[in-house]
Amino acid sequence: MIGQRSLPSSRRAVVSMTSWFLGVAILASPALGQRAKTNEDEAKVPAYTLPDPLVLSGGERVRDAATWNAKRRPEIVALFETQMYGKAPGRPDGMTFVVTKVVKDALGGKATRKEVSVLFTGKPDGPRMDLLVYVPNQAKGPFPAFVGLNFDGNHGVDPDPRIPLARGWVQNNPRAKITDHKATEESRGSESSRWALERVIDRGFAVATAYYGDIDPDFDDGFQNGVHALFSDPGKDHRSADAWGSVAAWAWGLRRAMDYLETDPSINGKRVAVMGHSRLGKAAIWAGAQDTRFAVVISNDSGEGGAALSRRKFGETTRVINTAFPHWFCGNYKQYMDREDEMPFDQHMLVALVAPRPVLICSAAEDLWADPKGEFLAGKGADPVYRLLGTEGLGVRDMPGTNVLVWSRIGYHIRPGKHDVTNTDWDAFMDFAERHTTR
Ligand code: GCU
Repeated sequence: MIGQRSLPSSRRAVVSMTSWFLGVAILASPALGQRAKTNEDEAKVPAYTLPDPLVLSGGERVRDAATWNAKRRPEIVALFETQMYGKAPGRPDGMTFVVTKVVKDALGGKATRKEVSVLFTGKPDGPRMDLLVYVPNQAKGPFPAFVGLNFDGNHGVDPDPRIPLARGWVQNNPRAKITDHKATEESRGSESSRWALERVIDRGFAVATAYYGDIDPDFDDGFQNGVHALFSDPGKDHRSADAWGSVAAWAWGLRRAMDYLETDPSINGKRVAVMGHSRLGKAAIWAGAQDTRFAVVISNDSGEGGAALSRRKFGETTRVINTAFPHWFCGNYKQYMDREDEMPFDQHMLVALVAPRPVLICSAAEDLWADPKGEFLAGKGADPVYRLLGTEGLGVRDMPGTNVLVWSRIGYHIRPGKHDVTNTDWDAFMDFAERHTTR
């Protein structure tokens, strides 16, 4: 089939849509825990009409690439900025990069690992983000790269005791054995199953990652810490309704990582894929939507506020996300709680902002909270924009079964299992990135 590649039969399990939905509904139900009860019944998805990405706010149809680029794309960027993620500042003037350490025998000798401090104000004791950059040793660069944020701290992606522990606030969590918001020796490698470093290095990609808490610690503190504080205007005692939230700050951090990667001679700055999982998938797709330097954009289980359509009201909803995480989006976004139909945008338009660059949307079959079908349909909703810009768009009409990589310019992959990043996901990321950046 055009734009679709079947994986080896051992990894392939194509099921009909009916049995797929039955299967995931049964598997997912015990996992819901303390989450708000939301709709996970396809029959209860309301009828909805998506805003047309190819109609200007004045009602005029977009008929060519020039009008898309000059008028409609900027309109949509402004909608997401003012109504959802909030407006972020640009690159700080005084920002500098300092390579603080180079370890030539990382990952058992397979990679060179650089530690790079991104000093947002240029001051070593000021706010900063520490990047880990793994570069393959087996060949000569420059290498294509993946860049993404991590949840637990850089010391969580790889158990190597030489990696500095995260400095500031970290999320309490049993997986990382963290109970008082401080990284510990025991938490080393806590997230390593989500960072298939050796596998990625073996295939000739570099990987860069930073801790999302270096950019903005993930709790609602009225934006007193992180990069929000750095840019806040001391004379102003209130935030405007379109001031940036945490997702926008994490996306901003990814763009600052890209600023560094462009300067690193071992990295091919024209072949950098931005990827992220879950809340960091929301950040990755927003970063990739705004910043055309990212050659490939990959969303993994990003769900509500990421790749999933809000109007479907399947799994997490606008009300639930804004209530549980009031700091993630801007003030204006709150007005759409239970009023998704009034949004002048939906997430298919976020995907469309990546056009004509390749975008891969990845889901997990048991991750109903993130609404896999809503993620697929956002890709489908972006298709007319990709086609207008002369690409093949999404190569399939219907959602594929598990473990089938749809590798058209809008790509899609769903694997069996839960909300996570696994080796199977990384294989899909690499297959997709290789296909789209080597030709
Ligand atoms: C919560 C949240 C999601 C988010 C996820 C994560 O489940 O509701 O929107 O994607 O956390 O980041 O792990």
